[in-house]
Amino acid sequence: MPIFPADDLHLTQAAARLREGDCVAFPTETVYGLGANALDEAAVAKIYAAKGRPSYNPLIVHVADADAARQLTTSWNEQAQKLADAFWPGPLTLVLPKTDAIPDTVSAGLATVALRVPRQPIARQLLELTGLPLAAPSANRSGEVSPTAAAHVLQSLGEETWVIDGGRCEVGIESTVVDVSGPYPSILRPGSIGACEIAALIGPLVAPSLEGDTTPRPSPGMLERHYAPRAHVHIFPSLTDAHFHAVLLGDNQKIGVVAFSPTRLEACREILLPLDPKEYARQLYSSLRELDDAEAGLILIEEVPSLPAWAGIRDRLHRAARSHAVSS
Ligand code: TXA
Ligand code: MG
Repeated sequence: MPIFPADDLHLTQAAARLREGDCVAFPTETVYGLGANALDEAAVAKIYAAKGRPSYNPLIVHVADADAARQLTTSWNEQAQKLADAFWPGPLTLVLPKTDAIPDTVSAGLATVALRVPRQPIARQLLELTGLPLAAPSANRSGEVSPTAAAHVLQSLGEETWVIDGGRCEVGIESTVVDVSGPYPSILRPGSIGACEIAALIGPLVAPSLEGDTTPRPSPGMLERHYAPRAHVHIFPSLTDAHFHAVLLGDNQKIGVVAFSPTRLEACREILLPLDPKEYARQLYSSLRELDDAEAGLILIEEVPSLPAWAGIRDRLHRAARSHAVSS
């Protein structure tokens, strides 16, 4: 199995592969990414092919520091500077106008590029050893749950994928994506860094809009089926609702449950997660994979609190639930 330890030998080999235009999956603090040289169109094409990713969904470019980010945008601004000072290295992605160095395949034809300085030490070493900006979307087939362990990457992308092992990801859900490319900053994807923390630094945020040219548009990647396990997902607000759905939809299929306290449902498997958003996020994707592996046909997930600290998690859960409502 091509899961390699993050020792000097394998990091040097991984960096050589990346410089030669091949893909390498590596850990970040959020989820594992499938990396390639962001300046090499042929290398970037390999990412889209491996993920089965639609060509309209742009990639995040990882860089070593804010200086390297500044070189890839035509208009670094005060908002970007404030957010970078506060949250880089870390799980924040900034969308800014791109320079010509960024191929259109990376930005999916948009005039902007998504930039992030990760804090995970292995990701940082690879950035340093290659001296390259690394395009790296989450290392899963398009639409699936993101990988938070090296083995998840092979499950999703196949045994021939090169993965550097960094153990479990510290954050567990993808970075917060903020569009600071225009006059109206907006959160395109919620994550562990919350809207209040961002607004405290750069002022009020607008909601992404599908209409009009002045406000930011949602990330192309947020419009589709996404962040979804194989099983149908239903979010339950109460135990009564959980029991009702188990009877109504659970017919002849195994049921998986993710809850804060025991439901006493006759579930195929029940995973209890803590009422702490950081720890919940860390365990969420591996829990959904575990229920998929147990061949649950229906996953019942207890509604999480409507509090800012849970916004990123709520977003992923509702997307997982909605995607089945749409696709089925
Ligand atoms: O935590 C993360 O962000 C992980 C790790 C590996 O860094 N990466 C990740 O990448 O989640 P991906 O490709 O799965 O998600 C990237 C998101 C998508 O929703 C995409 O549409 C959005 O960022 N995005 C990328 N470039 C954009 C741009 N120029 N404008 C708007 N949205 C953009
Ligand atoms: Mg992804």
